[in-house]
Amino acid sequence: MSDAFDVAAAREHFPALQQDQVFLDNAGGSQTLDAVIESITQYLSRTNVQLGASYRTGTLSNAKYEQGYQAAARYINAGRDEIVLGGSTTQLFMNLASALQLPEGAEIVLSKMEHEANVKPWLFLADRLKLTVKWWAAPKPELKLTPENLKPLLGPKVKFVACTHVSNILGGIHDVKAIADVVHEAGALFCVDGVSFAPHRQVDVKAFGVDFYAFSWYKVYGPHMAVLYASNAAQQHVKPLPHYFNPTKTLEDKLGFAASNYENVQCIPNIVAYLAGKSDAMAAHEAKLQGILLDFLNARDDISVLGSTSADPAVRVATISFVVEGRNSREVVEQADKVSNFGIRWGHFYSKRLCDEVLGLEPEGVVRVSMVHYNTEEEIRGLVEVLKEILS
Ligand SMILES: Cc1ncc(COP(=O)(O)O)c(C=O)c1O
Repeated sequence: MSDAFDVAAAREHFPALQQDQVFLDNAGGSQTLDAVIESITQYLSRTNVQLGASYRTGTLSNAKYEQGYQAAARYINAGRDEIVLGGSTTQLFMNLASALQLPEGAEIVLSKMEHEANVKPWLFLADRLKLTVKWWAAPKPELKLTPENLKPLLGPKVKFVACTHVSNILGGIHDVKAIADVVHEAGALFCVDGVSFAPHRQVDVKAFGVDFYAFSWYKVYGPHMAVLYASNAAQQHVKPLPHYFNPTKTLEDKLGFAASNYENVQCIPNIVAYLAGKSDAMAAHEAKLQGILLDFLNARDDISVLGSTSADPAVRVATISFVVEGRNSREVVEQADKVSNFGIRWGHFYSKRLCDEVLGLEPEGVVRVSMVHYNTEEEIRGLVEVLKEILS
């Protein structure tokens, strides 16, 4: 892995970082690139007209929107016709769940390690098509979803499996390619929530071998918008939902509902240009950040890191959650708020089944520190000092 990441130069691209606040809730939402802010301002100032028109400004607007779609598709190694951009990952999964066709009497496998965005739509699907739901959970302490712990749930009736690439609480990276292989061997479709993976590593839907994949650009340095991928083959199972007179060829036609916000779509080339070629260096930098925090957390007898305690960037991303013995997570965060400008969070982060049923946590859930490439080693050392102070 290249080690040549210039964090100071990266920070220059984020206006929000020029203020007195350390952003460590990046898994909730990242800060926005300057080029994105500028692009949206320009679009709304000069080219904000209804798409499809033939007059001069209309053609400019059409071209910008199309360039956004093309850039998003290329970025994840998908075809232009295999993606749809929309308001949020939750919304796009709900659109898919409204359109997916599975045979009567089929079974679906859902993981308990998920943000509810990758559960509720499939429960809705199961209700709509009268399917049986089977639950998948990984054993403690690693809490890693693997082909081995999935296999006992697979069988000829299973037609759909959904899981996360990275849990927004645990941070461990699941080997989705290996899981995709066993799902496909069993004759099922595989849907992956990439929301907590995409801010940290390059997405390549073809290399992952998935049928459906989604993530949210507002956590990848862009505006509030998400992308859903469905392979051309998997789209055969998607019943198009547009008005009767509109086309039904691409995934955008099938599930878009005219909901790809223009100014957001057209700014995607700016995000992609910023990220180009930086993935390995960003991962190496984040590995240092997670190493600093994990060294401290792992050394404390009164602190339990949830999931893997490894700082290896092949094992995890820089989203780290922990609980402190005898201390409520909310109180820990509120104390940090009182004495510092470190923006960390407590809670279940919508992964409620994981927190309640798998981890058996109190309602206040975990303390979560979620770092990205623009955080500095100095910031994380500073956070460790704050934690030492409030947990003394
Ligand atoms: C892992 C994960 N999946 C899905 C979502 C939902 O994303 P969206 O807000 O775009 O619906 C989130 C949001 O926090 C998340 O962390």
